[in-house]
Amino acid sequence: MSERLISPSSKDDDGQLDQTLRPQRLEELIGQDRVRQNLGILIEAARQRGEALDHTLFYGPPGLGKTTLAHIIAREMDVPLRVTAGPAIERAGDLAAILSNLREGEVLFIDEVHRLGRAVEEILYPAMEDFTLDLVVGKGPSARSIRLKLPHFTIVGATTRLALLTAPLRARFGAVYRVDFYDQDALTTIVRRAARVLDVGIEDAGAQEIARRGRGTPRVALRLLRRVRDYAQVRGDGCVTQAAAQAALALLDVDPLGLDEMDRQVLRAIIEKFGGGPVGLETIAASVSEESDTVMDVVEPYLLQMGFLERTPRGRVATPRAYEHLGIPYRPAEQPTLFS
Ligand SMILES: Nc1ncnc2c1ncn2[C@@H]1O[C@H](COP(=O)(O)OP(=O)(O)OP(=O)(O)O)[C@@H](O)[C@H]1O
Ligand SMILES: [Mg+2]
Repeated sequence: MSERLISPSSKDDDGQLDQTLRPQRLEELIGQDRVRQNLGILIEAARQRGEALDHTLFYGPPGLGKTTLAHIIAREMDVPLRVTAGPAIERAGDLAAILSNLREGEVLFIDEVHRLGRAVEEILYPAMEDFTLDLVVGKGPSARSIRLKLPHFTIVGATTRLALLTAPLRARFGAVYRVDFYDQDALTTIVRRAARVLDVGIEDAGAQEIARRGRGTPRVALRLLRRVRDYAQVRGDGCVTQAAAQAALALLDVDPLGLDEMDRQVLRAIIEKFGGGPVGLETIAASVSEESDTVMDVVEPYLLQMGFLERTPRGRVATPRAYEHLGIPYRPAEQPTLFS
């Protein structure tokens, strides 16, 4: 799989910095107004009643703040946060061990919750619903099952793929929030605030330029900010101006609407190899030598959001806007006729 410099899902470099830039409190969270308001009420109500927070699920494309929200929940509830991920819990016993060590009110964050194994999920159902743990002790004829009572804890789940979550698991989350792409204003504010934390001089127009090209995604915008900062430091006077942002991002192949090389490759493949579509996702992924999961999670959501791509029952279709953006004359895909 090819590496993407600004992939919203790659968390490799600057990880430390990400931590310091992460909003710590709900009121520090910029954007996501609906989530912020609803979560605020959920948290306040639970605190007033002195209860553990209801199990909460966040879903949406990578880099928009799901993990950040999990941390914020624990901080607002003033409880410890334990972090794990679906693929990390291999056996039912692993989860049983984690659950039986939780204390009253604690938050267990399960990232990529759609990737829990079947047997692991079976343990989770009664644990989430009734705070009980059914264990089998011993082997063979002497095996017996015992039921443990668990303290009231909170599961916070995150997933980029709500559709892959099994219905029974989804049903056990009392609150389900969709995190969405950020608008320009919110992203500009996030960039400006990060520049302040990083002690980088930034002009408003520079912040706006980075936000415009940030794919509506804080992780991407923050990464672009770092690269523009490098550029301004080496080639300019260190200040992030609009000109510095434009030059730096052009060098990185991030176009004025934030599409990067992979985004354009996907659009171009649909248009040039498949007559504009409809074409299936697997086929697109194969033709750009990328995993279909990556195309679906990382590339497609933003192209849909920008109106470059449409999903139809027969596959993905490039819109006139996509042709225009790539400078390709628009030839609508030929409609198959019934008696040809
Ligand atoms: N509302 C926000 N304000 C400021 N920064 C944010 C905000 N949301 C996210 N970020 C920043 O964006 C980065 C990515 O956020 P986060 O890790 O929470 O995304 P995610 O949704 O969990 O992504 P993934 O699906 O890849 O796990 C973090 O470093 C965080 O600092
Ligand atoms: Mg995350």
